[in-house]
Amino acid sequence: MEKTEAKREHWSSNLGFILAAAGSAVGLGNIWKFPYITGENGGGAFVLVYLICIAIIGLPVMLCELSLGRHTQRNPVGAFKKITPDSSTLAHLIGALLVLSGIFLLVFQDYGWAVVILLLGFAIFRYSWVVVGAMGVLAGFTILSFYSVVAGWTIGYIWQAFTGQLAFNSVDAAAGHFVQFITTPALAIGCHAVFMLMCMVIVYKGVQSGIERWSKILMPILFLLLLVLIIRGVTLPGAMAGIEFYLSPDFSKINANSILQALGHAFFTLSLGMGAMTTYGSYVDKKQNLFIATLSIAGLDTLIALMAGLAIFPAVFAQGFQPNAGPGLVFQVLPTVFNQIPLGTLWAAIFFVLLLVAALTSGISLLEVVIAYFVDEKGWTRPRATIVFGLVTFLLGCLSAISVTGWEHIEWLHQLILGVFGVSKGSFFDVMDNLSSNWLLPLGGLFIALFVGWIWGPRQAVNEIRQGSANFADVHLFSLLAGLKDDPSHNAPVHVVTLASLWGIFIRFITPVAVLFAFFYTIGWLKL
Ligand code: TRP
Repeated sequence: MEKTEAKREHWSSNLGFILAAAGSAVGLGNIWKFPYITGENGGGAFVLVYLICIAIIGLPVMLCELSLGRHTQRNPVGAFKKITPDSSTLAHLIGALLVLSGIFLLVFQDYGWAVVILLLGFAIFRYSWVVVGAMGVLAGFTILSFYSVVAGWTIGYIWQAFTGQLAFNSVDAAAGHFVQFITTPALAIGCHAVFMLMCMVIVYKGVQSGIERWSKILMPILFLLLLVLIIRGVTLPGAMAGIEFYLSPDFSKINANSILQALGHAFFTLSLGMGAMTTYGSYVDKKQNLFIATLSIAGLDTLIALMAGLAIFPAVFAQGFQPNAGPGLVFQVLPTVFNQIPLGTLWAAIFFVLLLVAALTSGISLLEVVIAYFVDEKGWTRPRATIVFGLVTFLLGCLSAISVTGWEHIEWLHQLILGVFGVSKGSFFDVMDNLSSNWLLPLGGLFIALFVGWIWGPRQAVNEIRQGSANFADVHLFSLLAGLKDDPSHNAPVHVVTLASLWGIFIRFITPVAVLFAFFYTIGWLKL
């Protein structure tokens, strides 16, 4: 144990850490998903709701994960193992609730879910909070399996942009082409394989010369490409309509469902709820300022999401298209938009390269969680873990790749899911996406906040954060904001409002309650 601790690789610089973590956060979520959910939920008003979710849920949970990781110097499972007390009343309570719900489901003959819930309940009795870390590793692997499929499509589209196959005259033609492309198994699986291989090559190299090095190269490229596209978009005649749609709020479009989407997306886009930030935090050394890092990572992520909207909506409106095309917005509407402006192929190619770069730095963070677990806990070497789990993830992703529009290629799996759970909404791809985004991430985020707020305790957590960030815990918030922190009469160490005390209140009460509401709404126990 002590040996691995001494040897653990750390980021070589503060900037390297922030770029790697921002690279994890900035991904398909920012450039593919954020613009289309904004388009569907009324533009500017949704952006505001989303910003509020980032502030009250995203920032506090990110700081929980980073401090947990740096304190324990472990992967998520190891992190929970290291500080879980021998007996935790809260864990027993949650375990008991789950077992009761499982019995309830048995009575209603919902056997599939009953078994899942019962197993989870008993696991919590047996392993206490370590189960949260295990859920994270499992989520990392599930998310990467379908994430890689979408990232694969962007690889295919880069190739097709360069070879002039994306010259569509109508969105219908583009849609036909897209469906044709993603339902050709050889293409979809081939591209998925290429993406997984790229992630594996980077993660194989380790923290400094793999993840950090590539993040430092890729993130500036991403930023530049995005700038180029924004300048192109906003200088098109008629672009103002898009900017207006994007930035002027229409609150009549906001309802409970859009608030939920904003909340779920806040987790996904910041890579929270499954220990990715815990893992990255475990490579941070004590001199670095975790609070400033949290602000920088969330700030960069939000900036890039907002910029992606600016790159997309003005161009879409300028060419007279609708912003509410859903998931197809970037694969169908955008190529058609680009085709109508001079040098269209170039813009399309730039856009899909941008999407790939964003996906790559996120994909490596998902893979790294799984690798860190096998290296720390099972004593595997990094190369072995990378090859084995890269392959396993690839295989699972193949199921998503071939079932993205329907079940026709894997009917046995469909029957299995139907038989065990009684329902199967959408394709296997949707099942995976739904399972991780709507269940594992919010649950994981809730448990992480509860664990840090009530079990590990804000006192320990703040002691961890204080190293490298004295202002966080020891300066009155007002004095800090007013620039009076050097005046000793303004700095009482206790009984004053500090950033730390605010954070403690958030993670103990506000964040868990907000997530629980959203969660109950998602699973239908709460109707608004
Ligand atoms: N944040 C990434 C995006 O927006 C996706 C991602 C990477 C992620 N790592 C994660 C999501 C961990 C949840 C958990 O595309």
